Amino acid sequence: MKEKIAQLKEQFNQRIDPIEHRDELERVKNEYIGRKGYVTQMLKEIALIPKEDRPKIGQLLNKTKQEIQHIISEKEKNFSKQVGKSKEIFDITIPGRNFGMGTVHPIELILRQTQEIFLGMGFRFVDGPEIELDYYNFEGLNIPKDHPARDDQDSFYINPEVLLRTQTSPMQVRTMEKQPAPVRIISTGKCYRRDSIDSTHTPMFHQIEGLAVDKDISLSDLKGVITEFCKQVFGKDRKVRFRPGYFPFVEPGAEVDVSCGLCNGKGCRSCGHTGWLEIMGAGMVHPNVLEMAGYDSEKLTGFAFGMGVERIAMLKYGINDIRLFFENDLRFLTQFK
Ligand code: PHE
Repeated sequence: MKEKIAQLKEQFNQRIDPIEHRDELERVKNEYIGRKGYVTQMLKEIALIPKEDRPKIGQLLNKTKQEIQHIISEKEKNFSKQVGKSKEIFDITIPGRNFGMGTVHPIELILRQTQEIFLGMGFRFVDGPEIELDYYNFEGLNIPKDHPARDDQDSFYINPEVLLRTQTSPMQVRTMEKQPAPVRIISTGKCYRRDSIDSTHTPMFHQIEGLAVDKDISLSDLKGVITEFCKQVFGKDRKVRFRPGYFPFVEPGAEVDVSCGLCNGKGCRSCGHTGWLEIMGAGMVHPNVLEMAGYDSEKLTGFAFGMGVERIAMLKYGINDIRLFFENDLRFLTQFK
């Protein structure tokens, strides 16, 4: 029996040394000192040896069991200390995975800059629905059902009275209905039109709308605000011009151009050899629109403007295809850091 115990100890020593994994250690622990382990087995065998030998052998076996226990718990402690080195537990010295921090989308960049500029001029920001009533999108903007101006803004209709808004101008009407003058708001967001996709058209795009209504608001207020905006977005040296333009909800109405930054207004391919780039529609709020919203058009006047965000971004950053904004190509998007 003595021999057997010595052998067991010897065998255990050989097993324990090369162990590198916690689960292997656990297995060996069970094999030797577990409920059905070798040592337990041998303790039971003591009953079979001559009575006078039992105490000695019992002592020896118990001592061996304690030694085995000690060696195993030392090894366990070692494993806990080696967290960094051990293969089974993660290595804190390995460089972390790249989480791929995103960049702000160029459309969002323009929206943020625009909001900042107009907030600085005393405008308030209002948000409106993309699913809009025909009344706010057209009717309340002086565009009745049979008006030819609707042809340019065919939309996606949910039913004859509900559509995806074709412009942010409905927020003019919604705001005036809700509050008395003075009004100074800007509203931005997605708009939808039934357009075929090409380098300058997508059926979804973004607009920025502005409206100011008060006593004695004049065309020169509009020109001042727009000119300041253009200079802040495109640069101080850029010129701004207003051409007559038609929108049913403004009178007089204007198209606003900014001088071409590539040729400094001399004329080049990018501005169609005119020296000017069209950037927005604007004008003095039509008296019909004021009246329909419940304002007294004898006492109040106002101006409004609306522009496409994609167009502003394309001109500002020199982007030649609107589709780039929506293809989510990282080679494009990460250029706007
Ligand atoms: N909503 C017009 C458009 O989408 C732009 C505009 C807004 C024109 C406000 C005049 C005043 O074309």
